[in-house]
Amino acid sequence: MAGTRVSTHEVFQNVMEIAQRRGFFWPAARDLYSEAPAGFWIYGPLGIKIKNKIVEAWRNWILKPEGAYEIETPSLLPLTIFRASGHLEHFFDKLVECNQCHTRWRADELLEDKLNLRGLEAVSEQELKRLLIEHEVRCPRCGAFNWSDVKRFNLMFLTAAGAETEEPNMGLRPETTQGSAVEFRRCYMVMRGKLPFLIAQLGHVFRNEISPRRGLIRMREFQQLEVHVFFDPEDMSPYNKKLEPYLDYKLRFLKLDDANTGKIREIPAREALESGYTINELITYWLVLYQRFFNEILGFPLNRLRYRELGPDERAHYASAHWDLEVYSEEIGWVELVNNAYRTDYDLKGHSRESGVDLAVQTDGKKVLPHLYEPSIGLDRTIFFELLLSYRKDERVWMQLPRNVAPFDAAVFPLLSKEELINKAKEVERILSRDFDVFYDDKGSIGRRYRRMDEIGTPACITIDYQTLEDETVTLRDRDSMLQVRVEIEKLPKILSEFLSGAKLEGLGEPINQ
Ligand code: ATP
Ligand code: GLY
Repeated sequence: MAGTRVSTHEVFQNVMEIAQRRGFFWPAARDLYSEAPAGFWIYGPLGIKIKNKIVEAWRNWILKPEGAYEIETPSLLPLTIFRASGHLEHFFDKLVECNQCHTRWRADELLEDKLNLRGLEAVSEQELKRLLIEHEVRCPRCGAFNWSDVKRFNLMFLTAAGAETEEPNMGLRPETTQGSAVEFRRCYMVMRGKLPFLIAQLGHVFRNEISPRRGLIRMREFQQLEVHVFFDPEDMSPYNKKLEPYLDYKLRFLKLDDANTGKIREIPAREALESGYTINELITYWLVLYQRFFNEILGFPLNRLRYRELGPDERAHYASAHWDLEVYSEEIGWVELVNNAYRTDYDLKGHSRESGVDLAVQTDGKKVLPHLYEPSIGLDRTIFFELLLSYRKDERVWMQLPRNVAPFDAAVFPLLSKEELINKAKEVERILSRDFDVFYDDKGSIGRRYRRMDEIGTPACITIDYQTLEDETVTLRDRDSMLQVRVEIEKLPKILSEFLSGAKLEGLGEPINQ
């Protein structure tokens, strides 16, 4: 994602505008029903393509090599599960109401916005109220300075299943983890498991956020890509070997001690492990894996990534150690993309207690209640930051999306809207669409068609002209440099595949004088 970048607060608005106008995503139901609540979003045709590509990258790069078994569990689960998981007792945000217009806000976010800092989640209700007054924070909606007391607000959506009761007996899951914890024992048995045992889930989760905002960053229904690594804390042998090639790899940490200065330390995995900071080989390995995944596969520049260590007050109720993988943008500052939590045996212990079923398993001849380490990717935030960080504005507006993530791999155009060129272009489209996501367009000037593809980040444009009819060659245009080469149709699938894997355009065909 190198290249020209505009650094203005307008970038956020421009990306949101492109997303809605071109069909990446937009607010659900609002076109017809203006009263539809905020925090619910539609992925349109282009958004779904990016989403599927990120999910595929996760499956190919994380799940398959790590041997994780993907499962699907229901979104609606019995409340007993959330009693066992601690969500009924602990899953709260701090709410404050404007006594004038009666809008409700997250008290910590009001203060964070006013003071331009992060991490006030753990501040007590009384202290938040005091700080709102001390810093003269006004209601963002009506401007009044008249706050209610700060109260705890549970983020779970509750409902009743069955005709026998109207009392809530079910809840929409706020994370996919509980499904994996509850089904762990059977998955372990059917797959003839051995620790470490990995379950993965891609799924919708639901949180009744007090003030959903900033598009896909704070939604009420969103999607997570979670890996649940169940392991024996006394046996790190499988991870000693796996970590070895990455011992010199530098992890980027904002440690708790540096929270005030914001200093990011680049710490080799070996040092992080040997100093005890990253606890064990398994956690160190997964921190390396996810930093590499976001950098090398999803294209986030390293200098925009950091693992922020969370202190005991800020950690989720289930975690004994916790780092948020965050991404930086000039427009919004640092935002969490992945929650990386060491959950110990908290979840399995809770479900053993609540259900009365012993969830300890046999592994290597001994009985163990596994511990859980979990990296949890916010898929929607990841999609949004792919777009935000790719946005470019120079003589054109374009998205420098990583080639493997762009909605379309290539566009195919006849140079002019003439039957003989259209027929040939459709033939090329047919050949390519077996293996690639291809967009075909024959309307309007060729310049405008290129611009439309640049705006949605299509890495390559293929044009069929009169020379094509003579010698079976087409032009291949690179989105970033706008340079073109001529290539034979016969070789096009192979050449396009090399280009999408990162090859430079110049080496792939005959340069065209422009
Ligand atoms: P935040 O501190 O921003 O509220 P969180 O700590 O509550 O986030 P987690 O519970 O750790 O979030 O959820 C795992 C991941 O899900 C986060 O890293 C984030 O990417 C994503 N996520 C969390 N809440 C939302 C939301 N309301 N809308 C979209 N994505 C979210
Ligand atoms: N599963 C991590 C979280 O959503 O809190």
